[in-house]
Amino acid sequence: KRTAILISGRGSNMQSLVEASRAADYPAEIVLVASNRPEAPGIAWAKAQGLRTAIIDHKHYPSRAVFEGALQAILDEQRVELVALAGFMRLMTPAFVEHWRDRMINIHPSLLPSFKGLHTHERAIEAGVKITGCTVHFVRPEMDEGPIIAQAAVPVLPGDSPETLAARVLAIEHRVYPAALRLVAAGQVPNDQEKVTINQHSG
Ligand code: GRF
Repeated sequence: KRTAILISGRGSNMQSLVEASRAADYPAEIVLVASNRPEAPGIAWAKAQGLRTAIIDHKHYPSRAVFEGALQAILDEQRVELVALAGFMRLMTPAFVEHWRDRMINIHPSLLPSFKGLHTHERAIEAGVKITGCTVHFVRPEMDEGPIIAQAAVPVLPGDSPETLAARVLAIEHRVYPAALRLVAAGQVPNDQEKVTINQHSG
């Protein structure tokens, strides 16, 4: 599947997807890395790899919808079939999200539905949870909502700071995201309709 990765910053998850996609049997091909921030370090890395990159600086567009129109044009031009958000820090309009329904995935650094939004590790420590992790999910209009594709857990250890915990979670993000994209690109994640059928049979 022709896949675009959208980033806003460092791009370490993007890097893990690109590296996984180099395996001969990997079902997703990374045809585009796009950023809304021109200075995103991940863009420099992607360029150095010889990947096609695009900058769509949201500050240059009068509205979210116009920004998304420009993004959609590039996705169409590259005949993109799947979109993977990897540290992409812009909320999308419901229209854009619906257009990509079940074809756009995101990684979030907590065990959803716990700790949606920002500062997840700080909040996990604050809440005193003993296990946290990461989640890859299909994107829905509400932030950090949507059917879960894959999760992995790590312990929260005594003395953890948000930084030490973030590093532990990031290490598993880099394993879970490529595995989840593989499942989606290979068509191995049942869609909502198929799930209803499975539930009826088992219920
Ligand atoms: C990751 O922790 C990801 O889960 C979250 O933002 C961070 C992005 O890091 N959505 P990177 O840009 O992939 O290195």
